[in-house]
Amino acid sequence: MHFVKANDGARIPAIGLGTWELRGRACARLVEQALKLGYRHIDTAQVYENEREVGEGLRASGIKRHEVFVTTKVWTTHFAPNDLERSTKESLAKLRLSEVDLLLLHWPNPQVPLAETLGALSHVRQLGLSRHIGVSNFTVALIKEAVALCKEPLACDQVEYHPYLDQGKVLEECARQGMAVVAYSPVAKGRIKNEQTLARIGQAHGKTAAQVCLRWLVQQNVSAIPRTSKIERLSENIEIFDFELSDDEMKQIFRLGSARGRLTDYGFAPKWD
Ligand SMILES: NC(=O)c1ccc[n+]([C@@H]2O[C@H](COP(=O)([O-])OP(=O)(O)OC[C@H]3O[C@@H](n4cnc5c(N)ncnc54)[C@H](OP(=O)(O)O)[C@@H]3O)[C@@H](O)[C@H]2O)c1
Repeated sequence: MHFVKANDGARIPAIGLGTWELRGRACARLVEQALKLGYRHIDTAQVYENEREVGEGLRASGIKRHEVFVTTKVWTTHFAPNDLERSTKESLAKLRLSEVDLLLLHWPNPQVPLAETLGALSHVRQLGLSRHIGVSNFTVALIKEAVALCKEPLACDQVEYHPYLDQGKVLEECARQGMAVVAYSPVAKGRIKNEQTLARIGQAHGKTAAQVCLRWLVQQNVSAIPRTSKIERLSENIEIFDFELSDDEMKQIFRLGSARGRLTDYGFAPKWD
């Protein structure tokens, strides 16, 4: 497994399993299977309502706890300091873990002063409830603000990133701050399956369009967390470490991107740079 590193010492496995919309037994089974197939990074969140099942899958896999990188995210309604600590403890109780590897603020929430939320996030880290802390959906301006306000180092910004979306500015800022980037919706919610450029490049390597897409992310030192509900795709999405894209192939994929390539308007998004 390859790792994406951050200045705070975090080593984030370059491929993880996204679990949004995976629920119940199916979720537990996918997590278990993913770990048995070599995944060492699982991404969940309070709002996905599957932390319990993620924990079940983790235990069923038989993989040792310290070998797996588990991320969860605090929902925006729990950003007041007491709520953040209480809800983190609830997440750990559901996961049946004493700590997670990474705890993220899921989205910016202008209703609660960022300094207070980051103070609580730092405190939770100091209590040992999470080995690393970070943010998600933070713009360049918000990353700068967060780094200036936070007592503890921030390990990452988890953002939407795939070939249709140019995230150059966020990547640059994270590199400047020593933070890792974790790409969500990394296969553009399945849309890349029909992308001609990726399929053509894939043919030359004996790989699928999705594998080329994930390889393109990992070659930028970005960690990607594709979600699938299909056991057979679990292997497809992690078998990307036995080939390399040339500079020219990387450039061809970069040409698919634009600043307006976001897939979903989540309604509560910040003003992107
Ligand atoms: N921080 C945030 O605000 C945030 C927001 C969104 C997502 N996330 C995280 O990021 C994870 C991934 O993002 P996402 O779920 O939005 O999108 P995604 O992983 O880009 O796409 C998932 C979709 O792509 C399909 N797919 C997966 N692998 C494929 C492959 N090899 N070939 C063809 N289709 C494939 C899946 O269908 P099948 O199930 O049929 O395989 C599913 O419909 C989430 O699960 C969640 O953990 C975080």
